[in-house]
Amino acid sequence: ALSFVHRFEPATDAGAPPLLLLHGTGGDENDLIQLGRMLSPGSALLSPRGKVLEGGAPRFFRRLREGVFDEEDVRFRAAELADFVTEARKVYNVAAPVAVGFSNGANIAAAMLLTRPEVLAGAVLLRAMVPLAAPPAADLKGRGVLLLSGGMDPIVPEENAERLAAQLRAAGARLDHRTLPVGHGLSQADIGLARQWLAAPQ
Ligand code: MLT
Repeated sequence: ALSFVHRFEPATDAGAPPLLLLHGTGGDENDLIQLGRMLSPGSALLSPRGKVLEGGAPRFFRRLREGVFDEEDVRFRAAELADFVTEARKVYNVAAPVAVGFSNGANIAAAMLLTRPEVLAGAVLLRAMVPLAAPPAADLKGRGVLLLSGGMDPIVPEENAERLAAQLRAAGARLDHRTLPVGHGLSQADIGLARQWLAAPQ
């Protein structure tokens, strides 16, 4: 059996890229289904629930406090999630997905890009920050990543988002980094940009 509680929605448009939906702290496998449908109509949707609980709130890895991560757990959980995606691809017969992650979900997606680059076709990272201070030398050549940051995000300082952008660029990703005049929450602008980006060939 697959090792994460999850939802899977089959594709209704074979040309649309499968999406791996990764929720924020306190979310679950249901959270981003509507967002996924809106961002890429017809895509297969694979949506796992984070296994780490913080006072009952599901997350994808442990943190010591807000913005300070248990990096050993980040590595362990990124590998565990990468293995789940690999297994789920066989079970559901889907191509490598594009991750769409928000907040904690964006952070685990970034960790997967940097430690298991083969698992994802690309990623939309919504309010991501640096998951690993010193990531291994990953090869993300040709892979598209859309990083959307909030210029007034109280959780992710601009400098931190810039550092993540530099890590992804150094690994060879085709990175599009935009900073929007918003906070940590998602805005209409995020949805519009992500939708546009996903509709273009990856
Ligand atoms: C994290 O813990 O991954 C970040 O602080 C974002 C969050 O989940 O609030």
